[in-house]
Amino acid sequence: MKQMLARGAESVIYKIDQWGFPFVLKWRQEKPYLLKDIDSQLRRSRTSRECKMLTISRTLGVPTPAVYSVDLDNHTILMDFIAGTQFKQLAGQLSQSTLISLCHRFGRLIALLHAGDVVHGDPTTSNVIVDEKSRLWIVDFGLSEMNATIEMKGVDLHLIHRALETTHWDIQEDMLDATLEGYVDLLGNTAEPTLSRMNEIRERGRYH
Ligand SMILES: Nc1ncnc2c1ncn2[C@@H]1O[C@H](COP(=O)(O)OP(=O)(O)O)[C@@H](O)[C@H]1O
Ligand SMILES: [Mg+2]
Repeated sequence: MKQMLARGAESVIYKIDQWGFPFVLKWRQEKPYLLKDIDSQLRRSRTSRECKMLTISRTLGVPTPAVYSVDLDNHTILMDFIAGTQFKQLAGQLSQSTLISLCHRFGRLIALLHAGDVVHGDPTTSNVIVDEKSRLWIVDFGLSEMNATIEMKGVDLHLIHRALETTHWDIQEDMLDATLEGYVDLLGNTAEPTLSRMNEIRERGRYH
């Protein structure tokens, strides 16, 4: 049984039931406006990157779906299905204290990645799944990178800032404060250079 779960900007997510267990098949579709060779190359490298970074991130302590197989020719990844709701969809319905606590944990997870010199690359609330026990899972690692510099980590935080202000306009400030608090909570003083880089990047953006 194959059921379409979501259609993102670059992929289609199917839920598959096999051997009595639910799995997710992520398929990167063709982009009609790109040259065929370039498109195929891009889908191949993002699929490979995602597969690798999902696993590396888990070893850093960040909950991610386990990967079972990857097919680079067909641009698919078979992984665990995470039962839950996109944080993006949930955020507006939560009590203030629950929202703050989830954002705090989101910030801690991003900090765990950064502590391991990994950046997520697309750290939006639609790439966070909240399960029934209120645990957070991070997905969508196709733009993730290793050996990250302060600049790359600053960009990651800047992307969080920007995503919050475009999707959660009425609660964005509380969400950002709590997320950054969680981030600093985990990293302590070592968060400082990345936070100032985030502000610098934001300032740069204002004048361009
Ligand atoms: N392993 C998974 N288990 C459950 N839901 C998932 C899983 N992976 C992705 N999803 C859902 O599908 C959506 C799109 O997946 P994502 O990997 O973010 O693709 P895209 O790159 O197209 O944004 C996610 O926001 C999430 O809601
Ligand atoms: Mg996504």
